[in-house]
Amino acid sequence: MLPPKEELKKWKEAGKEAARLLSYARKIVKSGMPLLELIEKIEEKAKHRFAFPTNLSVDSIAAHYSPCYKDRNVAKGLLKIDLGINIDGFISDTACSVDLTEEKKHEELIKASEKALKEAIKIIKPGIKLCEIGKTIEDTIRSFGFLPIKNLTGHEIRRWKLHGSLKIPNYDDGSNFKLEEGMIIAVEPFATYGEGLVVNDEPSCIYRQLTFNYPIRDKKARKLLEFIEKNYKGLPFSSRWLVNCFGNSILVPLSLLEKSQILYRYPLLVEKTKAAVSQTEHTVLVTKNGCVILTKES
Ligand code: CO
Repeated sequence: MLPPKEELKKWKEAGKEAARLLSYARKIVKSGMPLLELIEKIEEKAKHRFAFPTNLSVDSIAAHYSPCYKDRNVAKGLLKIDLGINIDGFISDTACSVDLTEEKKHEELIKASEKALKEAIKIIKPGIKLCEIGKTIEDTIRSFGFLPIKNLTGHEIRRWKLHGSLKIPNYDDGSNFKLEEGMIIAVEPFATYGEGLVVNDEPSCIYRQLTFNYPIRDKKARKLLEFIEKNYKGLPFSSRWLVNCFGNSILVPLSLLEKSQILYRYPLLVEKTKAAVSQTEHTVLVTKNGCVILTKES
């Protein structure tokens, strides 16, 4: 069943705004531009909250790089821009890859993930098995001579839940689960020159609250957790946002909450052989006879 009209309107609005922001980011990004400047410009343009900190991952970093408050890295190489909007818990998630090398050496790798997404969207409809989507993605990426990243997946999206229980594979994983009308899923093929696996690397600046209603003795940490709970409601957030609100002394209680495992700090995900990775992503709604792309500008 499709979501009720009122809800559908918000899913669509969240999708449209994310699409608008992504094309804005794509337009203004230049090689050598500080990532901090890029993310601040994107955030300035948003009318709503972000569903998660915008990821600006370069080359072999496949995901989870979001500039911290004193970030000094610049846009270069193969840049993935992955962002999402949250309107009252209705979430969108979309991504593109940009080749910032002078010789445009990553164009084919980017095309591979773009085409894989396109082909996947063509076959998505109620009754399709997840493994069939995965197979289409893998076959398309392999036809370019590259590999999909097997341990990164797309995901179902539910209200207030960026990662629902369903995973959308990027290869034939044998899953016989069938999609149903009304499901909202983010499909995100990743393509690489490397082995097709990511491993955890150093900690990122992205966090998420794991436990709720947890008694904390430290007053600053308690206050901070209250703020996080109220403002992010279990969705990922950036330590930079907190520093912008409270100054960098907030990093002390933040790390206390992390050490107490009340907060989870995402690690950077890096391709195992340090090869470059491309990514393309849309959020789609499964409809009666197919699907519609929600993260489209019009
Ligand atoms: Co996603």
